[in-house]
Amino acid sequence: MKAFAVDEVQNSQENPCFRAVELDLPHVGEHDVLIEVKAISVNPLDVKRRMLAPVLEPQLRARVLGWDASGLVTRIGEKVSLFKVGDEVYCAGEINRSGSYAQYLAVDERIVGFKPRTLSFERSAALALTSITAWEGLFERLRIKPNFESVKAPVAHPHYAQNRQKSILIIGGAGGVGSMAIQLAHHVAGLHVVATASRGQSVQWCKDLGAHEVVDHTRDLVEQVRALGLKFVDHVFILNDSDQHFDAACELLAPQGLICSIVPNHRPLNMDALRAKSAGLVWEAMFVRSKERTEDMLEQHHLLNEVSRLVDLGVLKDTSTQVYSPIDAEHLRQAHLDLQTHRTIGKIVLAGFE
Ligand SMILES: NC(=O)c1ccc[n+]([C@@H]2O[C@H](COP(=O)([O-])OP(=O)(O)OC[C@H]3O[C@@H](n4cnc5c(N)ncnc54)[C@H](OP(=O)(O)O)[C@@H]3O)[C@@H](O)[C@H]2O)c1
Repeated sequence: MKAFAVDEVQNSQENPCFRAVELDLPHVGEHDVLIEVKAISVNPLDVKRRMLAPVLEPQLRARVLGWDASGLVTRIGEKVSLFKVGDEVYCAGEINRSGSYAQYLAVDERIVGFKPRTLSFERSAALALTSITAWEGLFERLRIKPNFESVKAPVAHPHYAQNRQKSILIIGGAGGVGSMAIQLAHHVAGLHVVATASRGQSVQWCKDLGAHEVVDHTRDLVEQVRALGLKFVDHVFILNDSDQHFDAACELLAPQGLICSIVPNHRPLNMDALRAKSAGLVWEAMFVRSKERTEDMLEQHHLLNEVSRLVDLGVLKDTSTQVYSPIDAEHLRQAHLDLQTHRTIGKIVLAGFE
C-alpha cells in the first residue's frame, strides 16, 4: 500500500517533510478492522510526534503518523462482532500503531464508530479524535450530564433545564477540540458556554458553534468573565496552555467545582488554589483506553456512534474548515505548517489517494 512517512533526513521542526513509501498491509489482529482510508485529519499530536518518532519508534522502517481517519471496512479479524466488510466508519486510531497517512489502517473495532450517514468521508474524518476528547472531558471527567437520549428537542429535555443555569469556561474554543466541546456543552448538556478566542474570525466561529459569550485568552480572563456578570463558572475545560491559564481557571471555578485539562503543564500547578475551594483537577487523555486496553474501551465505539447520531439529527455540526486533496507529501507538509501557526480554526482534512 501507499503511505507517507516522516522524511527523517529533511524533516525538522520548521520544515515538515514526508516521503511516499510502499508498505505491506498492516497486520489485522483478532479484534481489528482493516479500513481503506478515504480521508484523514491532522491534529497537534501529529506535529509533536513528527519530531519524536525516531526516538519513540526506532525499530520502524518507516514512521507513518496520523490518527484520525474515515473509510471503508475491507477486512475483519476473527473476533470482530461490531462491523462487517463494506461498513463506512471513522476512528481516531491507536497511539502506538502505524498511522492513517496510509491507504489502509488497522484498528481495534472497540474504538471505531459508524460514520455519520449525512456527512461525506471528508467531513467525517475531522470528527473522531476531537469528539472523543471533548466527550470524555465533559461527560466523564467533569461528570456533566449529557442529554443524548432525546436530544431531538434539547430545549424541552429535563437535563437541559437542569443544566441551564450551570456554566462552563472552555479555554481554546476555536481549536479542533474546542469546536466539539462548545457544541456538546451547549447543545447536548444545555450549559451556558463561555469560550475563549483571540481573533475576529475565531470569535465568530465559537459563536456560530454555540458559545454564548467569547472572551480573549490573550487578556485577563478573570476580569473579562467577571465583567459578564459571572462571579464563578461551574466547570472549566482547559484545551490550551495549562501553564498560562491554570491560575485564572482556579480563580473563576466555583467552590467544589472541577477543572479538566487536556494539555500538560511545564511548571508546577498551584494545588492550594483548588484545596481552598474543595475543588479538583482531572485530566483527559483520549488514548488511555486503547493504550491500556481498559475494560471500558468499548465506550469509545458507543460515543462515536452517538456523535454520528447527533450529527445526523443536525444537533452537531461538522468542524472541518480546510480540505486538501489528494493525501500526499506536499499537502501533509502544508497541513503541518498550518497547525504549527497555533491559529487554526476547526479541523484540517486531507482526502483521497492518487
Ligand atoms: N489529552 C488529550 O487527549 C488531547 C486530545 C486532543 C488534543 N490534545 C491537545 O490539546 C491541544 C489543543 O488541541 P486542538 O486540536 O484543539 O488544537 P488546535 O486546533 O491546534 O487549536 C488552535 C486554537 O488554539 C487557540 N489558541 C492558541 N494559543 C492559545 C492559548 N495560549 N490559549 C488559549 N487558546 C489558544 C487558537 O485560538 P485563537 O486563534 O483565537 O487565538 C486556535 O484557534 C493540543 O496541545 C493537543 O495536542 C490533547
